Amino acid sequence: MKFELLLSEKEISEKVKEIAEEVTRSLRHEKVVIVGVLKGALFFMADLLRELKFSFVYDFIQVKSYEGMQTTGSIKVLKEPNCDISGKTVLIVEDILDTGLTLSFIRDYFIEKGAKKVYVCALLDKKKKRLKEIKADFVGFEIDDQFVVGYGLDCDEKMRELKDIFILKQC
Ligand code: IMP
Ligand code: MG
Repeated sequence: MKFELLLSEKEISEKVKEIAEEVTRSLRHEKVVIVGVLKGALFFMADLLRELKFSFVYDFIQVKSYEGMQTTGSIKVLKEPNCDISGKTVLIVEDILDTGLTLSFIRDYFIEKGAKKVYVCALLDKKKKRLKEIKADFVGFEIDDQFVVGYGLDCDEKMRELKDIFILKQC
């Protein structure tokens, strides 16, 4: 397997602080429920939330997508958030926005649960790969169509714990 450094721990941490400032500016007057998408968003979520300068509650959601059955993909919720979403502003925190299928499913799920407004925050965005129209409100880095690992992102559940983000040439 060949690794190539894409984003260092330092670059990531500086960017997380910038995103936190933006989120604070936009959402500090709202009643916000922040929902991290398991498992990939774990480290991003932990770092981002500790930089926010307003009070909020947080929870997690986990989904599973079945590929190959339909072109649109079919997604199932494995873990639902326990907190009340109705009338709240929801901020979804995700590691990477790729085809957009996962995040548009999760966004619709929160709208159905009665969220007042749903915002999306993704550390990485592979904009060119989009199959479903969805734009993140807060984005860390736009990246090319390459497979990346580290800082929560996995290859077959491995390498999530790496502190930097690497491009993986062979998986
Ligand atoms: P989407 O539904 O295609 O936008 O999928 C987003 C999900 O695909 C992310 O939450 C990741 O779990 C996974 N994913 C997409 N690209 C990568 C990558 O380059 N490395 C690791 N996981 C990825
Ligand atoms: Mg993921």
